[in-house]
Amino acid sequence: MSDAFPIPNTRKPDHPIDPLFTTRWSPRAFADAPMSEPELLTLLEAARWAPSAQNAQEWRFAYALRGDALWQPLLESLNAKNQTWAKNASALLAVASRTMAMPKGDEALVPNPSHAFDTGAAWAHLALQATLSGWHVHAMGGFNPEATAKAVQLPPHHVLHCVVAVGKRGDPASLPDGFREREAPNGRKPLSEIAVRGTMQGLL
Ligand SMILES: Cc1cc2nc3c(=O)[nH]c(=O)nc-3n(C[C@H](O)[C@H](O)[C@H](O)COP(=O)(O)O)c2cc1C
Repeated sequence: MSDAFPIPNTRKPDHPIDPLFTTRWSPRAFADAPMSEPELLTLLEAARWAPSAQNAQEWRFAYALRGDALWQPLLESLNAKNQTWAKNASALLAVASRTMAMPKGDEALVPNPSHAFDTGAAWAHLALQATLSGWHVHAMGGFNPEATAKAVQLPPHHVLHCVVAVGKRGDPASLPDGFREREAPNGRKPLSEIAVRGTMQGLL
């Protein structure tokens, strides 16, 4: 399908990788396109197959398709800047994790130290599946934790990580000043700044 709003992708990996990784990026201009529940469930299904410590799978998602009862409270729980563009997304989903788990054979909940790490992996699966399925996603840490927790009725022992906008790319001209000119795939630190052969002293 041709891109109605072509934006050059200047991302150049330093080592060979599948183009999927540089094709995924987080736009803000969304097209107010309808999304069916099965389309969204495909993204969540990819998240479901993420790895987790002891296969605990403590990631949790609450989603709203545009028009759902949850849509407006979830949108309004975002900070004002995020609301200006996320309102044109097709779906919003709150990403949370359960911080406690009950290991097999135990009777009490114990802290699960990898709940956030594992949920990050699930979010990455979801984002990459979105690219494969022709959607774009944009995670937002800019939300009011109390308002989002209230909107999704966050259960005890759960923590919110972000709200994700899912949609089809729209016209960058629809964005407010400050966002319009930034509407393009960004770059990355050199690999040498984040990975070292040997101890991490080499990264300081
Ligand atoms: C946990 C998390 C929180 C983020 N919060 C926001 C946000 O509140 N508002 C926003 O516009 N972008 C937000 N972003 C998007 C990042 O700025 C973006 O992913 C980063 O610049 C890398 O760009 P890319 O996703 O296009 O590769 C967030 C991303 C993540 C993963």
